[in-house]
Amino acid sequence: MNISITKTTSPKAKPDQNNLGFGKIFTDHMFMMDYTEGQGWHDARIVPYQNLSMAPSAMVFHYGQEMFEGLKAYNGADGKVYLFRPDMNAKRTNATNERLCIPELPEEYFVEAVKAVVSIDRDWIPTASGTSLYIRPFIIATDEFLGVAPSKTYKFIVILSPSGAYYKSGLAPVGIWIEDEYVRAVRGGMGFAKTGGNYAVSLAGQVKAHNDGYSQVLWLDGVERKYIEEVGAMNIFFKINGKIITPMLNGSILPGITRRSVIELCKSWGLDVEERKISVDELIEASQNGTLEEVFGTGTAAVISPVGKLRYKDDVFTIGDGSIGETSQKIYDAITGIQTGTAPDPFGWRVEVE
Ligand code: PLP
Ligand code: COI
Repeated sequence: MNISITKTTSPKAKPDQNNLGFGKIFTDHMFMMDYTEGQGWHDARIVPYQNLSMAPSAMVFHYGQEMFEGLKAYNGADGKVYLFRPDMNAKRTNATNERLCIPELPEEYFVEAVKAVVSIDRDWIPTASGTSLYIRPFIIATDEFLGVAPSKTYKFIVILSPSGAYYKSGLAPVGIWIEDEYVRAVRGGMGFAKTGGNYAVSLAGQVKAHNDGYSQVLWLDGVERKYIEEVGAMNIFFKINGKIITPMLNGSILPGITRRSVIELCKSWGLDVEERKISVDELIEASQNGTLEEVFGTGTAAVISPVGKLRYKDDVFTIGDGSIGETSQKIYDAITGIQTGTAPDPFGWRVEVE
C-alpha cells in the first residue's frame, strides 16, 4: 500500500500525562483511505488531524452503516513501540464489515495503516504508568442518498488518542449494574459486531446505571434476560470455586481480543477455564454461598477491571474485600507486561512499530 504523507505545519502541545482521561485528546495526524465501488480501497494518506467535510445526506448519518475498532500502542520499557495483536483487530473488522455490508478491508491494509500513523505520531505515546496511545480505526458510509441500501463509497480513518485509565477509579473495583429491563442484542442481530448501533442502544441503560452510582451495565441475553452476556465496554469473567468462567461466544456478544488472550493465558497457567452459558441465578447463588471469588472485565480500553459490586433488581452483591482479587491482579500484570515489553512474550502477541 502506497501511503502519501502530509505533515502538519502547526504541531500541538503535548498533554499533561497525569491528566489524560480517556479519548479526549487527539494527536497531530490521522490516516484516511477511500473506497469506491468498482475501484476498491484507494488513496491511502496521512494528513493533519482535521474535521471531515461531508454532505448532510451522507448515509452514515441516517442509518448507521459504520464500524469501529479499538487497540493501543505502548511505549515499551525497551524504547520500542508495540501494538498488541493488531491482526485480530483486522480480522474482527472484516467480521463486522460482513454483517454490515461494508466491503472487506484487506487485513494488511488495516495493520499497515495503524503502524504508519502510530509511527508518525510516536512522540504522542505517553510513558506514565497505565497510559498508552488509544487507536481508533473506523469506517463510514459516505454515499449521498436517503434510500436504505449499502453505500457504494466509504472512508476508512484512523485517529489516535493518548489515554489513561478508562474508568476514573483506575484499578480500583468498579460497580456494575445488571440490567433487567433493556437488552443490548439478540441472536441473529449484530451484537458480535463492533458498530455504533450497539453502543447507541446501550446508552439508556448506562444512564440508569450512572444515575445510581454504577460505572457500567452488565447485559443479559435478549430473549430470556437470564444469561449473562457482557458489559458495556468489556467482556466479563468470574472466578467461582477456583474456576475461571466466562460467557461463551453466541453471536450477541463482542469476541474481545483481551477476552481471548486472558483465556489463553489462564489455560497456559493450568487454570480451569470454562466458556459456557452462565445465568444470573447461578451468579447470585455463588455470591450467597461464598464461592464467587472474583469478578473482572476485560477490554482494550478497560484492560483488566476488577468488579467490586454487582446490583441486580433490589439486591447488591459485594465481591471480595474492595481491592483487586489475586487472580485478577496476576492477569493484569501478565497482560500489561506483555503489552509494554516488561515481560517476555511467549505467545508472540507483541508487534513492533518500526
Ligand atoms: N465488549 C464490548 C461491548 C466492547 O466494546 C469491548 C471493547 O472493545 C469489549 C467487549 C472488549 O473487546 P477487546 O478486548 O477486543 O477490546
Ligand atoms: C475498546 O476497549 O477498545 C472499546 O472499544 C471500548 C469503547 C467502547 C470505549
